[in-house]
Amino acid sequence: MTSPRNPIIVALDVPHLETALGLVQQLAPAVGAFKVGKELFVAAGPEIVRRIRETGAAVFLDLKFHDIPNTVAKAVEAAVRLDVQMLTIHTSGGLAMMQSAQQSAEAAALRTGKSQPLILGVTVLTSLNTNDLAEVGIPHDVGDQVERLANLAALAGLGGLVCSPLEITRLREFLPSKIQLVTPGIRPADSVADDQKRTLTPKEALAAGASWLVIGRPICAAPNPRAAAEAILASL
Ligand code: C5P
Repeated sequence: MTSPRNPIIVALDVPHLETALGLVQQLAPAVGAFKVGKELFVAAGPEIVRRIRETGAAVFLDLKFHDIPNTVAKAVEAAVRLDVQMLTIHTSGGLAMMQSAQQSAEAAALRTGKSQPLILGVTVLTSLNTNDLAEVGIPHDVGDQVERLANLAALAGLGGLVCSPLEITRLREFLPSKIQLVTPGIRPADSVADDQKRTLTPKEALAAGASWLVIGRPICAAPNPRAAAEAILASL
């Protein structure tokens, strides 16, 4: 998936297919894609992806695959058959796992005639700090570990990374410019932070070098989600 005209990805963090589809119907003309994460996918299954794709909207399947290379390759192939446009894998699964995922996406797209999804690497989860890394045997600063894994993802041929707003500038200093950066933790200037601690506004994140903005509650929990999405688009 190439860089977007509309960079807003709405996180459909809801537990039911009907609720998600209601949001998709309202929001599709005003946003670039919809993110289906673990909660919705486990509750509603692949059907939710098919139903969103029937509306013509793009789907970001955020299941963060992390397994042996063959298993991840097969999961990616299944995601291509479902016709998703973006999906996530953990870079800490290693170079061979990432290469298998990327090769599987390319081969499955050729074989099925479906579009080749953008594979996004997740580096260090933003819920982890340097102490947490030490506990699992990684004796590095979070920023250095993010940099190491980002370089490995680029080496594996992935097309993008998920990163926090505060990582964008550093990543842009050394990553090839074709790598797309997908950034959650986005809050419009007039919006509450919820549980996000380090946020940028949509415009700041794009200026720093983000390619896509993942936005959940500021749109989905707004009294008028469509108006909230349109206001964010207008602010860019
Ligand atoms: O509601 P909000 O805009 O905070 O939603 C952000 C979305 O991005 C959620 O789906 C959340 O799981 C996801 N996310 C995040 N921070 C990360 C990675 C993903 O908030 N580091």
